[in-house]
Amino acid sequence: MTAILTTSPLTALVDDLDAAVRRTRDGRPRVDAVCDALERHVRCPDLLTDDQRHGDPAGYRAHLLHVAPDGAFSLVAMVWLPGQSTAIHDHLSWCVVGVHTGEEHETRYRLEGGRPVVDGTAVAGPGTVTGLLPPGDIHRVTNSGDDTAISLHVYGVDVSRRGSSIHRRWE
Ligand SMILES: [Fe+2]
Repeated sequence: MTAILTTSPLTALVDDLDAAVRRTRDGRPRVDAVCDALERHVRCPDLLTDDQRHGDPAGYRAHLLHVAPDGAFSLVAMVWLPGQSTAIHDHLSWCVVGVHTGEEHETRYRLEGGRPVVDGTAVAGPGTVTGLLPPGDIHRVTNSGDDTAISLHVYGVDVSRRGSSIHRRWE
């Protein structure tokens, strides 16, 4: 009897992300390569289990999907129920975000006198992938649609050790 080995969609994504991180130098080249890798998988319908698609009425929810053994990157699924949003925040590392389902509204900010002021807005639907490279990565993400929004986030940091990728928050 021959065993047929198949690679799960999530494993295929992790392998692609790992290759993108390893073959690039830190900074914009790595962010661009990770964007390309995430773009190839982000709309795959079987990427997440039912549990990993669950939101939480108390606030947007993060499901940690993978951390590289050496902490070089982490992959997280974020689930926003309608109306939920993040605080205004920036990040500890580069960050690549791809929308899996639903619609996410992003507001970007710049600092003036130490306070964030709105610098632009964008709406991202399924398949949209964006890369952020600190500094200048202050934003807030909101699900202002009628359906659950799910996005995949890749961070250049071990979020299991840090708790999250967030550096600073502004309320
Ligand atoms: Fe963020």
